[in-house]
Amino acid sequence: MKRRFARATCLAMVGTFLLAACGSDDKGSSGSTATTAATAGSTATGDSTATSSGAAGEGGTIGVILPDSKSSVRWETADRKYLEAAITAAGFKADIQNAEGDTQKMATIADSMIAEGVKVLMIVNLDSDSGATILKKAKDAGIKTIDYDRLTLGGGADVYISFDNVQVGTLQGEGLVKCITDKGVKTPKIAVLNGSPTDNNATLFAQGYDAVLKPLFDAGTYKLVDDQSVPGWDNQKGGQIFEQIIATAGGSVDGVLAANDGLGGAAIAVLQKNNLQVPVTGQDASVDGLRNILTGDQCMTVYKAVKTEAEAAAAAAIALASGKAPDTNGTVTDTQLKTEVPAVLATPVAIYLDNVKDVIDDGYQTAADVCKGLEAECKTAGIS
Ligand code: BGC
Repeated sequence: MKRRFARATCLAMVGTFLLAACGSDDKGSSGSTATTAATAGSTATGDSTATSSGAAGEGGTIGVILPDSKSSVRWETADRKYLEAAITAAGFKADIQNAEGDTQKMATIADSMIAEGVKVLMIVNLDSDSGATILKKAKDAGIKTIDYDRLTLGGGADVYISFDNVQVGTLQGEGLVKCITDKGVKTPKIAVLNGSPTDNNATLFAQGYDAVLKPLFDAGTYKLVDDQSVPGWDNQKGGQIFEQIIATAGGSVDGVLAANDGLGGAAIAVLQKNNLQVPVTGQDASVDGLRNILTGDQCMTVYKAVKTEAEAAAAAAIALASGKAPDTNGTVTDTQLKTEVPAVLATPVAIYLDNVKDVIDDGYQTAADVCKGLEAECKTAGIS
């Protein structure tokens, strides 16, 4: 655990210059093997197109398109602020907009950023096809491109900035097993709620946790009740899907592999309606996810230091804007183009009750937000 934090910090400190020296857990995470391309399942609500403008901006503008504000709180609460800070600190203007789960809207934002002549365009795609169209248009206009967090298969971005996403899934699978073992449940019935079938990350997360869980299902030690993907990571749909899973399973399960905190929270609401409290996983170290861990409703989450990711992305953008190749610490496979995309991959960290504190100490969440109304639980967890 300590080592992983140390590496994340190392990554943050050295920017893009000495990434290789931070250790190389990158396993060349492969891109997706084909997943069924179900509908993108828009989570569109609201129309936050707020543009953040840097103070100086002499270097030009870096355009960033975030995917939505509902599939995870991280995009608006963490990525926006860290990207804006890192880009403006480097003397560029940050134009950060949100597509709100709407591929059409993302295309329109991209068109206007391209027309304005951004130096670099950074996207978190909603699906690979629509993302690839945007990246191609930018390339044709001579604009450098970055896949931020999600790899666009067939997109040919200049660089990919993310975490080791297979490792995220491994931590989730191992976390579920640990929490179930701690509870001493025999032949536990497990439900799996995957992320969006059109998000390459969801494929990589599943690669990680399937490698942990499948042998247990195959051996009959664990029983797989159902394994479903949630279009667009839509938390509400996730709850409905889980509702059906529980009904089909005869009203109970013993553990839920939920691919992020939003889906975990949706599952927890359904479990509570059924008077159940069983190990549930998550990802993103969101305020709600951490609070669910403190109350015992969630077993673990995965902390991804978004500040590190955003700073690496800003550094890559600045390198590209000055005609340089960004420093990277690995590659990922674009399974459509059959190419290796240069990548910066940061290291995820598993968070359980005993290290919720680390997320706060790292400045990602505040004790005030996490502990509101849970003062006793926070005190027990060593958070003040
Ligand atoms: C990100 C996760 C996020 C999910 C839903 C994934 O691509 O890596 O951090 O929870 O999308 O937005």
